[in-house]
Amino acid sequence: MQAAIYERTGPAREVLAVVELPDPTPAAGEVRIRLVTSGVNPSDVKTRTGLRSAALPYPRIIPHSDGAGVIDAVGAGVPASRIGERVWTWNAAWGRAHGTAAGFVTLPSAQAVPLPSSISFAAGACLGIPALTAWFAVAMDGGVAGRDVLVTGGAGAVGHYAVQFAKAVGARVIATVSSPAKAALARAAGADTVINYREEDVVARVLAATDGRGVDRVIEVDLAANIAAAIGAVKPDGDIVPYGSGAWEIPVPFIGSVLKNIRYRFFIVYNLSPADRAAALCGLTRALEAGTLQHHLGPTFALRDIAAAHEAVEAGATGNVIVTLD
Ligand SMILES: NC(=O)c1ccc[n+]([C@@H]2O[C@H](COP(=O)([O-])OP(=O)(O)OC[C@H]3O[C@@H](n4cnc5c(N)ncnc54)[C@H](OP(=O)(O)O)[C@@H]3O)[C@@H](O)[C@H]2O)c1
Repeated sequence: MQAAIYERTGPAREVLAVVELPDPTPAAGEVRIRLVTSGVNPSDVKTRTGLRSAALPYPRIIPHSDGAGVIDAVGAGVPASRIGERVWTWNAAWGRAHGTAAGFVTLPSAQAVPLPSSISFAAGACLGIPALTAWFAVAMDGGVAGRDVLVTGGAGAVGHYAVQFAKAVGARVIATVSSPAKAALARAAGADTVINYREEDVVARVLAATDGRGVDRVIEVDLAANIAAAIGAVKPDGDIVPYGSGAWEIPVPFIGSVLKNIRYRFFIVYNLSPADRAAALCGLTRALEAGTLQHHLGPTFALRDIAAAHEAVEAGATGNVIVTLD
């Protein structure tokens, strides 16, 4: 099979290569997926650049956790009836050397989730990280049904799904964006109020939109940049759910947080508990089957152009960046 690999961390064009490797064989409990698409997430880029750790956990890495394709072989203990199933993947490159930027991936059967026939393989490559993260940020701890929610970065891969999931349970959704085009995306996803965070006073606009109360939950894309605004915008006893941050270490305003009884609810989608994972998979599958979820697809690249795909993510591409496999 053709596979993209890297054997050291560094800039995309210096470390990523496309090579020929033997087709993998599924072990017991695994399925083999003939991949059609592979999703590129900021996380894949951070790992490849060495931002998380300069040392590689494996001598050779095939990147990307997200992807979609068709099961073409199964290992012992997996029903042969799974062969031919359209599926999407989660955590394919988390704690594993071989992700989805290849012709095939072998994975534990549970990490290949049925993809409804109405959902494209491109959309299927957006689910493992962006959609599951958004679903959990909205649904965790009792969810936000009928509540007020601020989704920062409401046109981002995660944010765009978060707006939709929050809206779907009857939340009033406020989204921040940085341009008119992103405002249109957030509105089309269901945001009731859209704020340009580069030009407007986010806290003042949030308070005005909530009759001075503030929101019940902030779903935060960049805690480092926005912690002061998040504290200002959330109401007492509210949640700040930071899933992203532009800096690894940040000071947390203690008084502002403690006086409001704010709950900071950090999480990373890779490490959901089995119960949370099961709930998220079930909730997302229901949303996919309902057929109303919008998928914001970004630029698409062939596998041979994987370096350009990574550079597109680094440049802040709008929409999920997809790599296609032949
Ligand atoms: N914890 C987890 O499990 C988890 C899961 C997925 C992603 N993440 C992390 O979450 C972040 C976003 O991921 P993504 O895939 O959604 O990326 P993305 O598609 O690039 O979206 C990020 C969005 O946030 C906006 N943005 C950037 N800085 C902002 C700020 N200071 N305030 C408000 N909006 C801002 C961007 O637009 P503008 O630049 O135009 O403002 C963009 O629309 C990344 O850091 C990623 O690593 C974490």
